[in-house]
Amino acid sequence: MINMDHNIEKIREIVADILVCKTHDMDHTNRVYNISLYLASHEQDVDLGILKPAVLLHDIGRIKEDSDNSGNTDHATIGAKMAGEILLNFNYSNEDIDKISHCISAHRYRGEIKAETIEAKILFDADKIDVLGAIGLARSFTSNGQYGQIMYTEQSVEEYVKENFVEGKITGRIKDPHKHSPQMEYETKFKFISNKLYTEKGKQVAKERLEYMSDFFKRLKQEIAGEF
Ligand SMILES: [Fe+2]
Ligand SMILES: [Fe+2]
Repeated sequence: MINMDHNIEKIREIVADILVCKTHDMDHTNRVYNISLYLASHEQDVDLGILKPAVLLHDIGRIKEDSDNSGNTDHATIGAKMAGEILLNFNYSNEDIDKISHCISAHRYRGEIKAETIEAKILFDADKIDVLGAIGLARSFTSNGQYGQIMYTEQSVEEYVKENFVEGKITGRIKDPHKHSPQMEYETKFKFISNKLYTEKGKQVAKERLEYMSDFFKRLKQEIAGEF
C-alpha cells in the first residue's frame, strides 16, 4: 500500500509537469480525483489501484488535442496511449495498463467508447460532475471571459438553438461562440448530464449541483431584468 501511494504521488507529479501550462487542467484533475474517491466509497469492489492512476492521467492528452487545429486529435484516445507509456515505468502489469487505458479512452462526454468497468464509470461521472455546481459556474464564467462570450443570452432556449446551433439542433455544433453564454451552456448541455451518468451516487450529486445552478440562473435573470 505504501508503494502504491508512492507511485500515485509520483504519477501526480508527472501529470503536473505535463499540464504545467494548463494549471486549470491540473486543478480539475485534482478535483476529479477527490470526487472519484467519494463515488468509489459508495460502490462495491472498486479497484483503487486502477482508478487512482486513471483519474490522474485522464486529461494528459489535452495539450496535444489543443495544439492540433485540424480537430482530428482526441485527447482521450491519445491520453490513453500516453498513459500506457508512463505506466511502463511503474510496476503495473499489462493487464492493469489496459484497464487504466480503458478508463481514459471512455471518459469523454460525446465519446464513442462506453465505460465498461466500475472504475471507468466512476471516472466518467466524476469528470462530468466537475462542470456542475459552484465550481461549474466558476469554470463557465472563466472560459466565457477568456473567449469574449456574452454573459447572458436574452433569448428563449428554442430560439437560441435554432439560430446558433448547426441545423438548429441541440446536439449540433455552436455556430458563433461569441453568442454563447454560461446560461445557454447550462440549458443546452449541463442540464442533461445527470441522465448520462452511470453511478447512483454520481446522479445524486449531479442533481443537487444542477439545482444550485438552476437557482443561480433564475436569480441572474431576475437581477438582469431589474426585478427585486
Ligand atoms: Fe477530458
Ligand atoms: Fe477531465
